[in-house]
Amino acid sequence: MSPSRPAAVIVLAAGEGTRMKSRKVPKVLHELCGRSMVGHVLAAARDLKPQRLIAVVGHDRDKVIAHLAEVEPDALPVTQAEQNGTGHAVRMVLEAVGAIEGTVLVLNGDAPLLRGDVLHELLATHEREGNAATILTADVPDPTGYGRMIRAGDGSVSAIVEEKDASADERAITEINIGMYAFDGGLLGAALGKVTTDNVKGEEYLTDVVTILRDSGHRVGGALDRRWTGPLGVNDRVQLAEARRLMNDRVLETHMRAGVTIVDPGSTWIDVQVTLEADALIKPGTQLHGTTHIAAGAEVGPGCTLTDTAVGEDAVVVNAVCDGAEIGPEVSVGPYAYLRPGTKLGRKAKAGTYVEMKNAVVGAGSKVPHLSYVGDAEIGEGSNIGAACVFVNYDGVEKRKSVVGDHVKVGSDNMLVAPVNIGDGAYTAAGSVITNDVPPGAMAVARSRQRNVEGWVERRRAGTPSAEAARRAQEQQSERGD
Ligand code: UD1
Ligand code: CA
Repeated sequence: MSPSRPAAVIVLAAGEGTRMKSRKVPKVLHELCGRSMVGHVLAAARDLKPQRLIAVVGHDRDKVIAHLAEVEPDALPVTQAEQNGTGHAVRMVLEAVGAIEGTVLVLNGDAPLLRGDVLHELLATHEREGNAATILTADVPDPTGYGRMIRAGDGSVSAIVEEKDASADERAITEINIGMYAFDGGLLGAALGKVTTDNVKGEEYLTDVVTILRDSGHRVGGALDRRWTGPLGVNDRVQLAEARRLMNDRVLETHMRAGVTIVDPGSTWIDVQVTLEADALIKPGTQLHGTTHIAAGAEVGPGCTLTDTAVGEDAVVVNAVCDGAEIGPEVSVGPYAYLRPGTKLGRKAKAGTYVEMKNAVVGAGSKVPHLSYVGDAEIGEGSNIGAACVFVNYDGVEKRKSVVGDHVKVGSDNMLVAPVNIGDGAYTAAGSVITNDVPPGAMAVARSRQRNVEGWVERRRAGTPSAEAARRAQEQQSERGD
């Protein structure tokens, strides 16, 4: 039997997290693999399809509330104005929303490695054993800092003792409280009313609910999670990095099992929302962020950072930074290209070496191979932009657009001063500064004519190696008689 939907999931995200030493970013908003810590916990919670999703906010709450509205608008923020402990946090929720009947899950907001399937198991154990409360636990080599699980003879849980309040014997226990709980909502409410602040930290501990429930004759169970590795709660930036590495490993493993080649998992970072098709190939030193999508047969890397970018089938992207770009099938990007938002490259197009593009739509088969800036532009199909061209899109006040037609050949080192249109099939001469429209099929030459001042070097730079070289060349010419 699959467990039912919980009545509510409450995520605790009000704590200050002093050990993060974070002035700008609230603890639970620190990011790993493209999501905040609390975002990961909420995503796992959402997997259970709870009837209500509640987040307790307190420290730096304006930022946390704004973040929740953005990433998890269904989550109801409840304020805990003063952080008087995890038990106090849950009590504030029940005061704000009223008693909750049915199963209530409470989750620490600082455990990003939490997975939805682990919560399903917690819920299943809770219902199977008919517990008043079920605690998710882990057996760890170093239990320092965690609440220790005290088990009764029958295997049920009789207490959770916080590290600071534990005796030496209790500290030796290696089964610890992960900070994820399932409760009977009605019993939880009653028990929270009895929690005191009679402990070393002077806080209302949620963990004290265990003993209170036991003392009134209810059963508390423990669900041991044997698969959890890495920090259970992230309290400082060392643990944050550890958790990030583990989560990244998880993400990469999933993709590799699904048919993606990742040449060097150690130097590859992929956010949780990135999607890759089987037979994509990711080379070393690559980071894929946001909603990036890589199609089958595409090769990305080495050294690429792609954010919210779509890479089409069989495209090749090398040493590139791309943000909000659409790279079509069989396109070639880089080495050393920078594609900014609004860049769209059609099938078999090219953005080559030292090329920057922004808000540029490049048609199928068109190429910008070398050293160019293409901003606010539309380029048709089969056109070629010579080396070192600049789409001059900014007059210091406004951005303007240029349009290049199909099968156009823009010569090397051109300035296309926007707004300007270059008609289909037109050519422009190397070194041109194009300020006026070019009709279809025309050749535009927009540069001054060359003038050679004969003998200038020998007259004005007499005695230099250049003058000497010029003299030798002229001698040889006259000997040959030409
Ligand atoms: C808590 C548990 C401990 C467990 C550990 C797992 C208690 C008393 N202890 O300890 O048994 O082993 O988690 O990581 O619960 N929070 C609030 N309001 C508060 C205090 C905390 O919302 O007033 C939130 C924090 O933001 C955090 C979570 O609750 O997300 C846990 O709080 P924290 O102070 O980190 O608890 P620990 O000391 O780690
Ligand atoms: Ca913690």
